[in-house]
Amino acid sequence: MAIDSAGARKKIEAITDLPTLPTVASKIVEIANSPKTSATDVGGLINQDQALTGKVLKLVISSFYGFPHQIKTINHAIVILGFNKVKNIVLTASVFELTKGQDSKRLDIRKFWEHSLGCAIASQIVAKHLGRGLQPDDAFVGGRLHDFGKVIFDQFLPEEYAPVIEYRNVNNTLLRKAEKEVLGFDHTQVGTWLAEKWKLPGGLVTAIRYHHLPQSAREEREMAAAVHIGDILTRAIGVGNGGDFSIPAITEPVLKQYKMDFEFLQNSITTLAEELRKASVFFELIEN
Ligand SMILES: [Fe+2]
Ligand SMILES: [Fe+2]
Repeated sequence: MAIDSAGARKKIEAITDLPTLPTVASKIVEIANSPKTSATDVGGLINQDQALTGKVLKLVISSFYGFPHQIKTINHAIVILGFNKVKNIVLTASVFELTKGQDSKRLDIRKFWEHSLGCAIASQIVAKHLGRGLQPDDAFVGGRLHDFGKVIFDQFLPEEYAPVIEYRNVNNTLLRKAEKEVLGFDHTQVGTWLAEKWKLPGGLVTAIRYHHLPQSAREEREMAAAVHIGDILTRAIGVGNGGDFSIPAITEPVLKQYKMDFEFLQNSITTLAEELRKASVFFELIEN
């Protein structure tokens, strides 16, 4: 019952209730790259949404970000943290909002979001090592969104996705392989379509598209590499579950290109475990 990729794209694009980024987040993404954008513009936008403002401030003063409790306004947060960090916190908080209350017979949603959060934190840790212009904050959001295509499959194409899960179970294979075998395309493609629809920055599109094949990324390859490794480190530490029963290997050329040895990977796992202990605020956002 394979449906071709173009047909599937049409079907997905025809779904009128596909998630849309909340207005504030999408406006912030839109103005993010304009040199004319000021901190006041961004602060004004976030302040329009009271619930979002509350969540952003809650994240800012959480032990994960570790900023002092004196930060009580968005404008103050932008001055202290900088625009890029605040933009990424807004995106993170908005995505939690989008996916709240989802249920599924095919994926364990709670474990899925734990996997995404673990990957976000791990990608940020790896990005610090990679450098080369990659902002660790951006890698965090890339990790957070990397498997979003699976949510689209699960929530909007449940009839098509059920046989994929069945194929994975029967053949004991990775979910991505099952998607390709049964449907002819996978969650990286579906996630990319959505990211383009949302007009997300190129680095985030790359994270979603190439997190399994970072060496194929022509631009922003560091982002793809950070999320690729972040994804696998998260599986290695056993945080959540993205829908696989086994752990694929890290792509060898990536390890070589960025000079990552066993010691680096081990240290990253230790740091990831420490950071996860401070990340309870995100779980509160999933639940409330
Ligand atoms: Fe994936
Ligand atoms: Fe993943």
